[in-house]
Amino acid sequence: MKHHDVIIIGAGAAGLMCAATAGYRGRDVLVIDNAKQAGRKILISGGGRCNFTNQKVEPHQFICGNPHFVKSALARYRSSDFIELVERHGIEYHERDHGQLFCNDSAKDIVTMLMTECEWAGVKVKLRTEIFSVSKTDSGFNLSTSNGDFSCTSLVIATGGLSMPKLGATPYGYKLAEQFGLTVLPTSAGLVPFTWHAEQKARFEALSGIAVPSTITAQDGTQFSEALLFTHRGLSGPAVLQISNYWQAGEAISINLLPGENALEKIELALKNHPKQSLRNTLSHWLPKRLVEALYEEAQLDKALNQLGHGEREHLAQSLNDWSIVMNGTEGYRTAEVTLGGVDTNELSSKTMEAKNVSGLYFIGEVMDVSGWLGGFNFQWAWSSGVAAGLAV
Ligand code: FDA
Repeated sequence: MKHHDVIIIGAGAAGLMCAATAGYRGRDVLVIDNAKQAGRKILISGGGRCNFTNQKVEPHQFICGNPHFVKSALARYRSSDFIELVERHGIEYHERDHGQLFCNDSAKDIVTMLMTECEWAGVKVKLRTEIFSVSKTDSGFNLSTSNGDFSCTSLVIATGGLSMPKLGATPYGYKLAEQFGLTVLPTSAGLVPFTWHAEQKARFEALSGIAVPSTITAQDGTQFSEALLFTHRGLSGPAVLQISNYWQAGEAISINLLPGENALEKIELALKNHPKQSLRNTLSHWLPKRLVEALYEEAQLDKALNQLGHGEREHLAQSLNDWSIVMNGTEGYRTAEVTLGGVDTNELSSKTMEAKNVSGLYFIGEVMDVSGWLGGFNFQWAWSSGVAAGLAV
């Protein structure tokens, strides 16, 4: 049986980062993955350009049962550290809205960079390798795999979440956590589009492709101001993906279609200046006409502004600033960017990611109960948690 100081299961973002960090410390590191390619999620991320981090990363941008958990790792390995690594490898990048950083050329550059770092650090990577079993020994762990049996002193689980099963996402990390007595908090799809109920679909599906600025608020008060996109299946766009992380099934979301504007004041001003203008024409100056026609009754839209009573104007304003809608559900793991829930962080060290009750066992990246906002935060968690464990194994 071949022995390694460290075995990492999962050659994704967190696993490769951890491997290089440990390798540079002189540890003998093996990374095992059942996929035929390393970093497959990185390759498709950010529309193929990988939103690899964000200029401004703060703990409140992460969802975790224990909100303080992320602080230590994020402070130890910051987005500026990853940017410095990217620059050292000569990868050109650009900044988009809200501090999001993307490769100029291709997400492949990030995978190449991580694999190069692993090579320089002497890390071995075995792909297409199925793990049959993992067991604890007095001095570490034994692994039985389709590529032979291995032992290690430290075992790092970096198998990611459940999103995008067609890219090889598996619940294996959760099963291992349970095998070793750790709690796995219930999982659900995050950063995911919402779907229509049947009657909503009949009314709104023709709007597919329309995007408008919006502010969306969840029941717990969390709010995002970004684009809202209508699709055949439901609602998407950055504002919806963000709010999906804070949404519970059956809850209404509030959509402000005129973000930063007081709809009642706008209507009263339009009434004063153009009393005979139809409601249809008035609203069509503010929102796409097809959206206006889907939101309001024909008879109401045909009325002139001076035919609307005060109550009607108030009601209208409310529907523009606070459109309350209960969506059917989400598109689920098929299209979700992340998995909410996972290995309970209360059972892990926030400094090293080691299980408090199983010496030598570490969990990093998305398999843990840590999910970030849209905007490069999930990769930053993979880098920061990977480095935290890489410095400890
Ligand atoms: P990751 O999923 O990267 O890696 C897990 C690895 O474990 C995989 O290589 C897998 O094959 C392996 N594995 C799983 N089960 C195994 C088993 N049983 N045996 C062996 N190996 C196994 N985030 C962001 O910050 N910016 C972005 O632009 C995007 N974009 C984006 C687009 C899309 C379409 C998705 C689905 C996701 C994103 N994300 C993102 C999220 C980001 O990809 C995600 O948070 C990280 O990849 C998580 O890194 P991990 O290393 O934890 O898991």
